[in-house]
Parts: sequence; structure tokens; C-alpha cells
Amino acid sequence: MPIPERLNPSFAPTLPAALDPLEQARNRLIVALDVPDLASASRLVNCLEGTCNWFKVGLELFVAAGPAALETLVARGHHVFLDLKLNDIPNTVAAAVRSAARLGVRLLTVHATGGPAMLTAAREALEGVSDAPQLLVVTVLTSMDRAQLRSIGLDRTPAEQVELLARMGLDSGICGFVCSPQEVASLRALTGPKGVLAIPGIRPSGAAIGDQKRIATPAEALRQGASYLVVGRPITQAADPAQAAEAILEEMATVFEKPSETAKPGKMPGLAPLQSSTNA
Ligand code: C5P
Repeated sequence: MPIPERLNPSFAPTLPAALDPLEQARNRLIVALDVPDLASASRLVNCLEGTCNWFKVGLELFVAAGPAALETLVARGHHVFLDLKLNDIPNTVAAAVRSAARLGVRLLTVHATGGPAMLTAAREALEGVSDAPQLLVVTVLTSMDRAQLRSIGLDRTPAEQVELLARMGLDSGICGFVCSPQEVASLRALTGPKGVLAIPGIRPSGAAIGDQKRIATPAEALRQGASYLVVGRPITQAADPAQAAEAILEEMATVFEKPSETAKPGKMPGLAPLQSSTNA
């Protein structure tokens, strides 16, 4: 499988070379189930079944429906990204991480501002756990600009703060991050091939931007080094969610189709380890 044009050729191989471009894309598209209850989530998943196999459950749905929101997805063979942005004392976060691992989630967010001791405790909590989720460190929320950072006592630009916290995450032994399209290239440079980078703020050309500020198209984000694209409203609020997801997958697939003259075959950015029982 040739590496896409402009994608860093040093990225590690993570998917079977024989996987077709659309399947490669499907393994990297995560739909954000930002809905208030289980019934709305089920309706969306029913629409998207067969098109998408990764779903993100965030605070809204998890607070409303609890682990039941994950159980249905896992039972149907989907991969789950649990986005709770854990941030508490190390002992509490470690316990929450172990609980999440028992629920079968594949990606789980922790907040960098909990500090290195908390991040280390989160990582250590998964040592020896079979089929452990990949931890993703959230650095600076996309809602924080320079003025917001200053008001919490930080005299740095968001980019400087992202880099500082990303280095802290790496030093704590975690090589996964959530970041905006604006930071994906620099985080990829920092993590190298094994970094698992999940990128929200994705908008296909022509789609409504909504409240997102730092956006990229699906193809741009992949070319910058994204492992996963996290897409909410462009899919979930479309008149036909499956059709909207197909269009995004097709755009993503073009990145995997284009051969690069300088590329080494079979090299793509990091993905989370999947459960041994799945074949995605
Ligand atoms: O609807 P939209 O595509 O903007 O949804 C993006 C998803 O990614 C939402 O679930 C949002 O909470 C999440 N997210 C984000 N920015 C971050 C972290 C997560 O937009 N920095």
C-alpha cells in the first residue's frame, strides 16, 4: 500500500497493507455521539451501522445513560472512544481508568492539567490489563485562547502550552493526544510514528463550521499526520447521516489511494491497538 502524498514516510505501519483505501478510512473515522439519551444514540448508530465502526461517547451521553451507552456499542462490535477528560487526584483517575478498561473502550481521554503524577498513575493503572484502551492526553481545550490562558495564570500562547503539556504527556509514558488540526503536524513531529493523534474540528469543504474555530478538511488532517478524525455535527446533523459519513470516508480514502514517489510501502500513522476479538 503506497503511503499518501506528503504524509511523513517515517510513520510506522499499523494496518495490513492489503486493506483497501475505504477500509483504511473507516478504521480512522470516529463519529461523536453528542446526543442527550440512549434512544437518540441508538437511532444514529442504526443509521450508521455498516458505514462507520468507531463511535465517541462524551460527557453528555455518559452522564445521561452511563455504561449502558457503551455496552450496546461494544456488543454490536463497534470500537468506542470514551471522552471523559479525566482530571482528579492520581488515585481517583487510576481507578476510573481501570473501570473504563473493564467496559471495553478502545480510546480514553485524560486531562494533561492533572499533572505528571496523575498521567503516570493513569498509565500504570493499565499495566498488565489485557486489551487495555489507548490513553489520549487532552492538552489545551480548543475553547482556550491566549486571554483565557492568561486568566488562569499562564502567560503562554496556546501553541506553547500545547507543546509543554504534550512533552509532559510523553515523559509520563503516554503517546496519544487529542489536538486541533492546527497542532497535528507539530505533535506528529514530536511523537514520531507511534503517536496516536485523534483530531476533532473536521469539516468537509462546504460544511457548516458551527462553533469550531481551528478546522481542517478530512484529507488535510490526515495528510498532516492524524491517526483518527473525530466528526460530530457534519454527520449527526445531516439529513442523511450515512450518506454524509460515506462522503467523508470517500474523501479520506483519496489520501490512501495517492501513491507517493518517495514513500515506503505500508507506512501510516499510529492507531490504537484493537481488541483481539475484532478484525478491524
Ligand atoms: O460536531 P463537531 O464535529 O464539532 O464535534 C467534535 C467533537 O469533538 C465533539 O464531541 C467535541 O466535544 C469534541 N472535541 C472538540 N475539541 C476538543 C476536544 C474534543 O471539538 N479539543
